[in-house]
Amino acid sequence: MSISERKIDHLSIVSKEKVEAKMQTTWLEYVRLIHKASPDISFDEVDTSVTFLGSRFSAPLMIDSMTGGAEEAKEINRKLAEAASSLGIGMGVGSQRSALKNPELADTFSVVRETAPDMFVMANVGGAQIAAGMSVDDIKKVVDMVKANALAVHLNPLQELIQPEGDTNFRGIVPKINEIVKAVQVPVIVKEVGAGISREMAIELHMSGVGAINVSGVGGTSWAVVEGLRAKKAGNREKFELSETFAEWGIPTAASILEVRSVSKIPLIASGGIRSGLDIARAISLGADISAMALPVMKAVLKGGSEGAKKLLSKSILEYRSALFLTGSRTTSELKRKRRILLGPLGEWARSVGIQ
Ligand SMILES: Cc1cc2nc3c(=O)[nH]c(=O)nc-3n(C[C@H](O)[C@H](O)[C@H](O)COP(=O)(O)O)c2cc1C
Repeated sequence: MSISERKIDHLSIVSKEKVEAKMQTTWLEYVRLIHKASPDISFDEVDTSVTFLGSRFSAPLMIDSMTGGAEEAKEINRKLAEAASSLGIGMGVGSQRSALKNPELADTFSVVRETAPDMFVMANVGGAQIAAGMSVDDIKKVVDMVKANALAVHLNPLQELIQPEGDTNFRGIVPKINEIVKAVQVPVIVKEVGAGISREMAIELHMSGVGAINVSGVGGTSWAVVEGLRAKKAGNREKFELSETFAEWGIPTAASILEVRSVSKIPLIASGGIRSGLDIARAISLGADISAMALPVMKAVLKGGSEGAKKLLSKSILEYRSALFLTGSRTTSELKRKRRILLGPLGEWARSVGIQ
């Protein structure tokens, strides 16, 4: 199966099947922000805007890395770019490996930059491809392809493990990321795809000079489930059974934010199961700087085009603004200083990494 066919397969599965973790949540529901009965501010003065990696966002939200590499994906990327740029937020494109192999696919990614010349855009490559020898020149090409503001490198060992055609050699990636950090002009963001980043991993990444971490923890899209469904369709029983055992594997998004924050002040993106503006506020109160959403935006754009995506994202921004208002926070930095309570398993996890 070609990379383009696989990308289309992914889109078809995520739009039709249930691909989110069934039992394991993000644990963001264990974060209680404190209601302020007299917030002492007017709703109109609440300012949701933030600066992240030198770019201004109207709210701490972006569309996480998703697609490109197939003709259908070009139209989706165009619509996502329209939605994100009209709201003053940013977005990532999906893995650009296909366009390196097949240059006529480059416009399925660059359409984002053409649609939104001033938007914050993240290029995207896979850690497994870097381990397999993707050259620094190739990496520079993917950054140039979308005139990226940052380069996202995804680490997805669970997905590759279950994927029938997966690439499971993850040897020596961090030193290679360090070479890339030195060679490219834009910040490098290392991200998971739904299994989270631990404190040990965060220390290694921090030492290798990455510009930001996107935790992308458990609680949202499960790539074990997505690839398990593909394995089942292909008659690969062993991989399907493996996917069932590991469907909920990883670090919940809320715990992953605490893990990274316990060891580093690195710019931090919360993703993996972010489903509302209240989730964004909870993630920020744990130490994230900005958030990113993938699956719900994909579903909204497939159903309702750029207007559908815009509606979903605007709803989350309104919810975020409301959470700032109700906690008596004029800005995101004020929210970060507000008291919050960590309940249940998240409270225990917080204590285990020395955070109260
Ligand atoms: C359809 C789809 C395609 C994705 N493709 C990529 C990709 O190419 N590169 C990447 O880094 N992450 C990819 N992701 C992972 C997301 O960026 C994100 O980390 C993950 O889905 C968790 O967020 P969510 O729960 O909001 O979906 C993809 C997600 C979806 C739903």
